[in-house]
Amino acid sequence: MSTLPSHVRIVEVGPRDGLQNEKQAVSAADKIALVHALQAAGLREIEVTSFVSPKWVPQMADNAQVMAGIQRRPGVRYSVLTPNLKGWEAALLTSADEIVVFGAASEAFSQRNINCSIAESIERFAPVAAAARAAGIKVRGAISCAVGCPYEGEIAPERVGLVARLMKEIGVQHVGVADTIGVGTPRKVQAALAQALQHYPLEEVSGHYHDTYGQALSNVYASLEVGISSFDTSVSGLGGCPYAKGATGNVATEDVVYLLHGLGLQTGIDLEALIDAGAAIRAALGQPNGSRVARALLAKRA
Ligand code: HMG
Ligand code: MG
Repeated sequence: MSTLPSHVRIVEVGPRDGLQNEKQAVSAADKIALVHALQAAGLREIEVTSFVSPKWVPQMADNAQVMAGIQRRPGVRYSVLTPNLKGWEAALLTSADEIVVFGAASEAFSQRNINCSIAESIERFAPVAAAARAAGIKVRGAISCAVGCPYEGEIAPERVGLVARLMKEIGVQHVGVADTIGVGTPRKVQAALAQALQHYPLEEVSGHYHDTYGQALSNVYASLEVGISSFDTSVSGLGGCPYAKGATGNVATEDVVYLLHGLGLQTGIDLEALIDAGAAIRAALGQPNGSRVARALLAKRA
């Protein structure tokens, strides 16, 4: 049996990846309350918002307001998405701790999501990464459609390796292998991770799995088996992607925490408090909870 990592890093992406896809308007106050509840539950890395065009993603138009409204806790890292220099400049004003440039392993998805080719995206990211590094801010990269694309279908793992190499060359310090539409299964996800690992060490590669086909938890386990110890997850399974029709949220944070604790792995997260955070945002949205673990434990409480 393989040895699993002893400690796992969870990056909570619900406020960004989750709420960017909400059809109804979500107030800045509700977003700020969600971040507060998440940090109270022990989350130490929170992806808060995106500095993208409000015409493309109106749900994130309150980015600066949300960042300004958070009562920051020492030891918590607040990250934001920055697709270009304009986004970076706006993010810098809000004292983000970490930024994320987001590219894709699929040309068609790159065009639909950020309106440029993969090569052009790297050209746009390069000055962003350089400026952030110069300011002492960590730069993460996301590689969307790492196993499948809504427009191109199956994606060869080598394409992930190519984008990882290009990101490495411009100074991106960490890459997230993203199954945007949740079509991946364990061996395919491991193949995509292996490509990223040709350019980054184990601790600088993370898994970002949407749960559209119900495979995300299996893919988390498959990633642990190859030594990956960092995952992006979304409380109560919030979310989807505005440029990937039918895509559902990321794997629920509660479900991943339950899995990890069951395996005896440390996360530093209080599962009950996390369930409260997910229940509160779902109540504010008037939606059922997307986490199986939360539903089970909430039923037990009642
Ligand atoms: P563009 O139209 O090519 O940009 O969009 P442009 O430079 O030509 O500018 C056009 C207009 O946008 C101008 O305004 C700019 O000022 C404005 P106008 O003169 O027309 O009034 N603009 C901006 N405004 C605010 N912030 C900015 C910004 N940049 C330009 N940063 C752009 C290119 C990337 C901006 C656009 O395509 C965009 O905003 N896309 C949003 C994509 C997005 O947020 N997708 C969801 C997040 S990614 C994701 O969910 C995947 C992930 O979770 C991993 C996974 O699951 O796969 C990370
Ligand atoms: Mg995503």
